[in-house]
Order: sequence, then C-alpha cells, then structure tokens
Amino acid sequence: MAGAGPPGGYSRPSMAKEKTSFTCSECGGASPRWLGKCPHCEAWNTLIETVAETASGGRHRFASLAKTSAVAKLADIEASEIDRTPTGISELDRVLGGGIVEGGVVLIGGDPGIGKSTLLLQALDGLQRADVSTLYVTGEESGAQVALRSRRLGLENSQVRVLAEIQLEKILSTISSTRPAVAVIDSIQTVYSSELTSAPGSVAQVRECAAHLTRAAKAGDTCIVLVGHVTKEGALAGPRVLEHMVDTVLYFEGDTHSSFRLVRAIKNRYGAVNEIGVFAMTEKGLKGVTNPSAIFLSQHSEPVPGSCVLVTLEGTRPMLVEIQALVDSGGPSPRRLSVGLDRDRLAMLLAVLHRHAGVACMDQDVFVNAVGGVRISEPAADLAVMLAITSSLRGKPLPKGFIAFGEVGLAGEVRPAPRGQERLREAAKLGFSVAIVPRANAPRKPARDLEGLVIHPVERIEEAMELVRSLG
Ligand code: TYD
Ligand code: MG
Repeated sequence: MAGAGPPGGYSRPSMAKEKTSFTCSECGGASPRWLGKCPHCEAWNTLIETVAETASGGRHRFASLAKTSAVAKLADIEASEIDRTPTGISELDRVLGGGIVEGGVVLIGGDPGIGKSTLLLQALDGLQRADVSTLYVTGEESGAQVALRSRRLGLENSQVRVLAEIQLEKILSTISSTRPAVAVIDSIQTVYSSELTSAPGSVAQVRECAAHLTRAAKAGDTCIVLVGHVTKEGALAGPRVLEHMVDTVLYFEGDTHSSFRLVRAIKNRYGAVNEIGVFAMTEKGLKGVTNPSAIFLSQHSEPVPGSCVLVTLEGTRPMLVEIQALVDSGGPSPRRLSVGLDRDRLAMLLAVLHRHAGVACMDQDVFVNAVGGVRISEPAADLAVMLAITSSLRGKPLPKGFIAFGEVGLAGEVRPAPRGQERLREAAKLGFSVAIVPRANAPRKPARDLEGLVIHPVERIEEAMELVRSLG
C-alpha cells in the first residue's frame, strides 16, 4: 500500500536522514534503503549503513586515511626515520616496536575485563610524567570511575586529561583543539557519529568513527589508541572490522581467572608482528613479566608424567598450551573424557596409538585436559595429546623443556601443521629446548631464531614414541 509505513513498534535501521545509504559488505553494491537481501548479489543480511555520497564531496568513506601528496618516484621520496616515544612500560613498548609513533593508530582488542583500560591508563600516566601531552576519552566509565582506578593504581597526582564523551564530533573537536600527542579512545564501540542512524557498536558506526579518528590522527600528528572489545563469538562489530584501517593491532590474551595476560602484536606497520608482551595482573595494575617462560616452568619445578606442551595456533597466533593426560585403570566400561579438546578425536587417537604404536589403553580410563581453559580445535594437537597419554600410562615424564605439535592420521603418519616455523620460533622464544615435530615442519638449515631448540623431525607415530623413549 503506497505510503504505508512499517507497522507500529517494528523498527529497523531507518533512512531518517537522507545523508545515509546502505552498502553491501559482500559485493559493495549500494541501495538507498535497508533491505534484508542485497539487490545486487542477493546475499542476506549484508547491507550496512554508510554515509552517502553528496555532490559537494561530503563523502568520507573513500577519503584517504593517510596524508595525500602529489605523484612522485619512490626513489625521490624521503624515507624518514620513524620517531618513537617509549611509554615506559617495557613489555608494551616491545609489542609496539619501541613505543608510540606520531600519527600512528593502534587498536587494542581483548575480552571485557582483561585489563585494556588498566594498561592504557598506566601507559598514559607514564607518558604524561615524561611530559608527553595525553588525553583519555572514556565512553564506558565516568570520570570519577577512571579517577578511582588511577588511585587504585597508585597514580597519585596524575596529570592525564580525561574526557567523558561518546559523540564522535565532540571527541574530534576536543582532539583538534587540545592537540594531545596521544589520545586513547576507550572504547571505539561506545563512540557514535550523529551522521549515522545505526546504534553505537554496530559495524557501520565502528567503521565510520574509526575512519574519522584515523584521519584526525594523521592530520594532527596525534597517536590514537582505539580500544575494542572482542566478544567470545568474535562478533562482527568487534575490532576485526578495523584491522585494515589501523597501523598496529594488539590483542590481549589469557584466561581472566589466571593473573597472566599476553599482549600480542598481530599487525604492526612500525615493528615486528607476533611480538608478545607478558603481564601479570596485580593489586596495583599490570606488571611486566620479563622472563615469560617462567610462567610455564613455575607450574612444575620438575617434569611430571602425563604433561606435554603443545604449540598451537589460536586463530592466527601461536600459543603454548600444556596438555595434561591421566590414564588410570578403569572399570568394565572405561571412560574417555576431554576438556578443551574434541572427544571423538581422542577416541580416534587412542585407536591409532594401539594399532600403530602398540600402546594399549583399552581397559583404562583416559582423561585429557588443555590447561588454562583454552579450547583447542586444530588437529595439530594430536601428537602432543598422544605423547601426554603415553607418558601418563608409562608413568614417565617427557624431557624438560619439551614441546610437540603435528597432526596424526589414521594410518599412523605424522602430518605437517600449518606455519610450523612460527610455532618453533615461538617455542624457542619462550625458552623451550627439545621438540618433536612433523618432518615437513623441521627447518632445512639451522636458523638463528631457533637457537637453543633441538628439533627432532618424525614421519610416523611409532617413530615419535621410539624417540621419546630414547630421549627419556
Ligand atoms: P579493565 O582494565 O577494566 O579491563 P577492560 O578495560 O579490558 O575491560 O580490568 C578490570 C579487571 O582488572 C577487573 O577485573 C579488576 C582487575 N584489576 C586488578 O586486578 N588490579 C588493578 O589494579 C586494577 C585496576 C584492576
Ligand atoms: Mg575498559
């Protein structure tokens, strides 16, 4: 019926303002209205509100994120050295590649409550004490709450300037009038632009606000740090959509029940990626842990049976996780239980162990656990799981500083894991000394960044079992 609006109470992203239109995140096609299905590629639920193009050039979406300049030959462009300002928190400086960079944009992601606000407040205070002008924009907490945290952190007399604001335009005008050297936006999900009708935290708002802030950073030579929450489901509106826009992406990792936190650089235009900073959450904020391998060594002063350290890739990042197994004589129907690992896969691995390596657990209860509450879904955990089980069954610990990874097939073959070099480098960096890995993952020639790690390549599971016996 012409002119009839949606029934009362029914709401959807509206076109209240003509300034906005909708763009498909799949094919990039545009639509003046919100539709459930893209009229171009017919994908469902892909239309996202964007600021519409206007004749006066009011379109911001495709404006350059970097400063623009005339065409020049590469050789003629001056390659200026990047100036870094250390934050004074050495573990943070390490992941940043030395410190903050003028006009650089950093994204810090992580689960709620993991310590993002705490770390950044500590960093800002350190910078301010070194006479670097700072601004902390809080959208989640009031100024009083931030002040309370600063007292808790023992930051008496802190000169960090705080702005409690969530409207993008006001934040931008404060940044341009106060011109801080560093500004933290905590968090990007609370900021909204009045040019868009979507709710704060939606993909459209997060993307648009981050783009404006990035441009402000480049224009005013301010380093802007965006804080983003990652939800457990990896929600679309999370920091993931911003990764390509910013210069540096850092993620917090770790179990909020334990005190250790890892900050990892997964993208850095000004430094190395996969650099990690390790912190411990204390009563007085985050403290850097300078010898991170101690985290793992402190759990068992001497190797214990049934424990094997696995180098796994969580998403795109390698991580060391202890796999524990307990094999104990069971009743008439022995149990197979796993926490953090797939139970069907465990049953399969037990069958392979029996058939190809002659290790029988038929009349035994088998429990397997990935320490720290991590969930491991990749098959590259197979070898570590099997080694932990065998170690528990025999009551013999694996060698000190031991790691393993690799997928094991039904025929007993040990298959390569993706990005084996990175895993080995991670293990070497954390101070591990012996590794059993698939042959295809072993480096062909000695590598400097693998110094101190003795690598034993294997092709079959029985070979791995034999090796462990000879090493033990
Ligand atoms: P927070 O920095 O607020 O997390 P995020 O900004 O990532 O959501 O961290 C909050 C947690 O840290 C909270 O559970 C309390 C704890 N905490 C400490 O243990 N010690 C401290 O000194 C502070 C400030 C917080
Ligand atoms: Mg916070």
